[in-house]
Amino acid sequence: MLLAAPPLLLLLLPLPGPRSAHGHPLYLRLPPSTLQALSAQGTQALQAAQRSAQWAIKRVAMEIQHRLRECQGPGSRRPQAPLLQDPAKTGSCGERRPGASNVTRAQGRIVGGSAAPPGAWPWLVRLQLGGQPLCGGVLVAESWVLTAAHCFAGASNELLWTVMLAEGPRGEQAEEVPVNRILPHPKFDPKTFHNDLALVQLWTPASPEGPARPVCLPQEPREPPAGTACSIAGWGALFEDGPEAEAVREARVPLLSKDTCQKALGPGMRPSTMLCAGYLAGGIDSCQGDSGGPLTCSEPGPRSRQVLFGVTSWGDGCGEPGKPGVYTRVAVFKDWLLEQMSAAPSAREPSCRELVAWDPPEERLADATGPCAFYARLCPGPESACARLAHQQCLQRRRRCELRSLAHTLLGLLRGAQELLGPRPGLRRLARALARPAPRGQPGLEQRLHAGCPGLEPLRQRLATLQGTHAWILKVPSQHLAMNFQEVLADLGSKNLLGLFRARVRAGLGGQHVVFSGLVGLEPATLARSLPGLLVQALQAFRLTTQAEGEAEGSWAAAGLLVTPFIPGWPA
Ligand code: ARG
Repeated sequence: MLLAAPPLLLLLLPLPGPRSAHGHPLYLRLPPSTLQALSAQGTQALQAAQRSAQWAIKRVAMEIQHRLRECQGPGSRRPQAPLLQDPAKTGSCGERRPGASNVTRAQGRIVGGSAAPPGAWPWLVRLQLGGQPLCGGVLVAESWVLTAAHCFAGASNELLWTVMLAEGPRGEQAEEVPVNRILPHPKFDPKTFHNDLALVQLWTPASPEGPARPVCLPQEPREPPAGTACSIAGWGALFEDGPEAEAVREARVPLLSKDTCQKALGPGMRPSTMLCAGYLAGGIDSCQGDSGGPLTCSEPGPRSRQVLFGVTSWGDGCGEPGKPGVYTRVAVFKDWLLEQMSAAPSAREPSCRELVAWDPPEERLADATGPCAFYARLCPGPESACARLAHQQCLQRRRRCELRSLAHTLLGLLRGAQELLGPRPGLRRLARALARPAPRGQPGLEQRLHAGCPGLEPLRQRLATLQGTHAWILKVPSQHLAMNFQEVLADLGSKNLLGLFRARVRAGLGGQHVVFSGLVGLEPATLARSLPGLLVQALQAFRLTTQAEGEAEGSWAAAGLLVTPFIPGWPA
């Protein structure tokens, strides 16, 4: 019967081993190719779990820092979201560091161009999807980044995005902040790039002590006249289809008139929402990867400030003669921008990140103060059927968000495993922990925590708990983060009702080894179904082994340990 089902089964032909009195094999060893496939999936799951853990810890670390800043007295108290401070009013926008602008040479180019001195563009940010830089962006308020809507085409899940803020003039480290919310312009058209603008809300505001600073937004629809020399900056390609720059590059480009733009670029160029800038002779331009980045012009006056008039959007090639670059006209979107940035938090549906981070104790789930309050805002009272329904709706969305989260690959595996292994509270807890968005605790942070700051202690405890629960995976250096299934030996006489066989599994991870007993299928369908279960057991085994390292033997049993050293009576 085993041989009746072809492709995968060929992989499963028993290796010579112990046989029964009738000459039938007693055990079957999964072949190397299956072990390799399993190991590759395991490695992926481990990477997702590590990223997730790092992120969870960084988030709490950032909340602690934020709390500490708030506690440093009313002088340094920072506004709560919405965090727009009209930069023009506070006067703290668009200022380049003394020196930075002198160093910038006017002949600099992004295409073929010149490197900007570190810290020259304090509002320039990098948008990263799963850690990979994809677009530029511009810090316009402490919690808001403006970028191009087309950057999110096909990847609008905010949980996958982070923003790398500007580094300092002496190479001070750039802050990486998770994205809380992505607001593409509602009229963005991905076919024509009309209204190519999106606001990104940061999960935590840019630190005022850090090097990042916001640019100024235009105060009126009036723009500088054609011919004005403005600046563009970004990490984009050095030439069309070329490599991305390793450091920020900058260029000076003149604004061109509507007529010139339309003549050069044809009907695709819509002057109502787009402006163009560059040289008809070609050679100096923005390019792929610069999208979302700034086109700023300095405001004349005693304190020359940089005002954001364009956001890099598209072009016909890069630096081609007669083809200037196209930028979204920021000034015409001023109302939309202000409206979005100043909306009250309660007027917005909570973001996935807010819902996933919201982790109240069971009895406080229905609290009217949590992010779920949004859904019940139109209900007559907290006890109404409407409010209960709204709460259900909120929980459902949170579930969807959890599933969408970074570790969704792993969750898929976990779910598959739950089906096989039946409900296990331990697994569900692991699943929930892994589902949460997750980077590394800051050294010395604990020392900075002081008692006089309310709300700090629970955060500190949360950090400690997270560090404890994730220690097993954080300990493994990322270069050793590879799962290696060395052996899966199935007992052919142990087939259960689900068609699975008991198996002894040996696996290695970063110099550690575990042996446990699991269930494996030996036909294509059952095998495929059983692999996630083995993977989860292996992860659990490593986790428990690491956790138990410093603990007494007895606590292993108390933890409901899945690991059994070996199956009695099995060949060693
Ligand atoms: N769309 C590009 C991006 O996604 C920006 C292209 C700008 N091209 C130009 N020639 N100015 O990065």
